[in-house]
Amino acid sequence: MSVVLSEVSDRILTITINRPDKLNALSAEVREGLAAALRSARGDDAVGGVILTGAGEKAFVAGADVTSFPSYSPVSARAFAREGQALLDTVETLGKPVIAAVNGFALGGGCELALACTLRVASRNARLGQPEVNLGIIPGYGGSQRLSRLVGKGRALEMLLTGDMIPADEAWRIGLVNRVVEPAELLPASREILKKILAKAPVAIRYVLDAVNAGLEMPFAAAEDHEATLFGLCFATEDMKEGVSAFLEKRPAKFAGR
Ligand code: COA
Repeated sequence: MSVVLSEVSDRILTITINRPDKLNALSAEVREGLAAALRSARGDDAVGGVILTGAGEKAFVAGADVTSFPSYSPVSARAFAREGQALLDTVETLGKPVIAAVNGFALGGGCELALACTLRVASRNARLGQPEVNLGIIPGYGGSQRLSRLVGKGRALEMLLTGDMIPADEAWRIGLVNRVVEPAELLPASREILKKILAKAPVAIRYVLDAVNAGLEMPFAAAEDHEATLFGLCFATEDMKEGVSAFLEKRPAKFAGR
């Protein structure tokens, strides 16, 4: 059985990391499978959005595969971090919404993977954390940056320095996850959010992702300029004409994605 499973239905690709006996730790094989699944999601017009989850009831992803760490040199460890960062950048910049359905432990690289997703829905039993300091290391898949940008420097530093796992309701309280649901509701709730997004104008959805992701990397004035350019481009789309006409004619819009 493959360590990364893909299934498409209703324009939603569900990617399941399938190594439950090792709590879905990100082995090289998992990273390659995930990269391949994301590549095909990016190029496939039949895929509007992605749900990323872990197999089994215990873990989303319990981190990078610690068994590989003893063999790393400083040089190969740096390359390992850069490769993982590139993989998670692919998640963040896919151009399609990606929902992390966090079904249990999301630790280390698992928490970082969830952070790279567009939104995070957690089951009530989920526990999230960056326990790297317990191993004498720091996050290497962008966690020090994405966590502090998402929940603020103080809360991020507390998680990064103590290595404590926090339960789903605490993760919700600090804005680390968007929703907390019962375990049985995790995939249905994730699909429901994604379906709501996929019913909107597709080009506008892409531009929102770009305005936020690229804009946060720019000085404010440059980000505003970028936002204005994307706003202007919307006026070249059929979807904008349809959305505005539908509003004025008091009927639901039918978007073609052009
Ligand atoms: N890398 C490799 N293997 C891992 C792993 C990881 N990050 N996390 C869990 N596993 C493996 C365990 O070694 C164990 O394998 P085994 O059955 O061959 O011994 C299996 O998954 C089950 O984990 P186990 O530790 O027995 O489950 P638990 O319920 O007692 O504990 C955790 C769960 C999540 C608290 C514990 O597994 C853990 O702390 N994992 C590492 C988390 C971590 O530090 N991640 C960041 C890495 S940078």
